Amino acid sequence: MSGGATGRRLFVNEVATRDGFQMESRFIPTDDKVALIDRLSLLGYARIEVTSFTSAKAIPALRDGEAVMQRIVRRPGVVYTALVPNLRGAERALESRVDEFNIVMSVSETHNLANLRMTRAQSFAQLAEVIALARRAGVPVNVSLSCVFGCPMEGEVPLSGVLAWIDRFAALSVQGITLCDTTGMAFPTQVRAICEAVRARHPALPWTAHFHNTRGMGLANVVAAVEAGIARFDMSLGGIGGCPYAPGATGNVATEDVVHMLQCMGHDTGMDLDGLIAAAAELQTLVQHELPSQVSRAGHRLVRHAPPADFDDIAARAHARGAGELHA
Ligand code: COA
Ligand code: ZN
Repeated sequence: MSGGATGRRLFVNEVATRDGFQMESRFIPTDDKVALIDRLSLLGYARIEVTSFTSAKAIPALRDGEAVMQRIVRRPGVVYTALVPNLRGAERALESRVDEFNIVMSVSETHNLANLRMTRAQSFAQLAEVIALARRAGVPVNVSLSCVFGCPMEGEVPLSGVLAWIDRFAALSVQGITLCDTTGMAFPTQVRAICEAVRARHPALPWTAHFHNTRGMGLANVVAAVEAGIARFDMSLGGIGGCPYAPGATGNVATEDVVHMLQCMGHDTGMDLDGLIAAAAELQTLVQHELPSQVSRAGHRLVRHAPPADFDDIAARAHARGAGELHA
């Protein structure tokens, strides 16, 4: 059974090696990062967010960004992107020849100060320079806006404020905007309303949704965003991830869980689900803890399990009782 006629082409961005690894206590060796990305490159992704060009003091787990970018095999058709918080990060990303910048700021003043040590106005001013630098270099820019669906320190974030930041970036002709639910505060009806509002305001902009599963609403939020017309999604293999400067952050929606669900619903993600499940097993040995994802453990919904060992006896006894006894 599938959605058939309602199936759409949806695009998957992998963020495990950025959002995921930035939150791991164990430093994942550069060789292992490169091998994982090379493996993921064969699985059908639209984008892979390889690393971030942040300060090594802020995000020590990704201090090897240059080495990773230099050593991965670039598969045609996959966009290799990296998170960029400031001008220094943009210069590093340019030197590493990323295909696209994913620049970042928060729509919450408190989270922006905690995460980036700048006011939102300071971030925006610096990111405007980053956008100008990228334009001169011919590199596309996507903007990831943190805390669009709520801030773990400020609570509700007014939609009017979110829209004002979106308008300012749209005026600089960025190539796309990602709506990030940094700590899993989004819920489906809110997701639908916000996604519809931003699409109505800027219909030509490619929108991406980025959900964390902190409160178990991640998959429901993906469905709500699909229904609101969003076609691009960030997700993390194994469901690892989280912002170290957002209190209470936990992992992203898991790539294998989201892809499995979307495939069941008849959408075309272009992804190799079996390959994802195998890669998740590899990831688990890298991070050395159990992954939060579920399909990596349960497998596809049509995975068939053997019946109990004494099944033949059970069946024979049931059949021997005959139909009459049931009505006795
Ligand atoms: N890459 C590498 N080093 C950087 C850098 C970058 N993008 N930006 C700044 N630095 C270095 C500076 O050179 C300086 O180094 P020094 O101490 O050896 O002189 C040091 O970091 C401090 O620079 P400063 O500009 O004062 O930065 P800061 O301490 O105010 O931090 C950020 C600002 C944005 C660099 C930092 O907060 C950061 O990297 N945050 C990213 C957080 C993140 O990725 N969160 C999760 C994803 S949303
Ligand atoms: Zn995230």
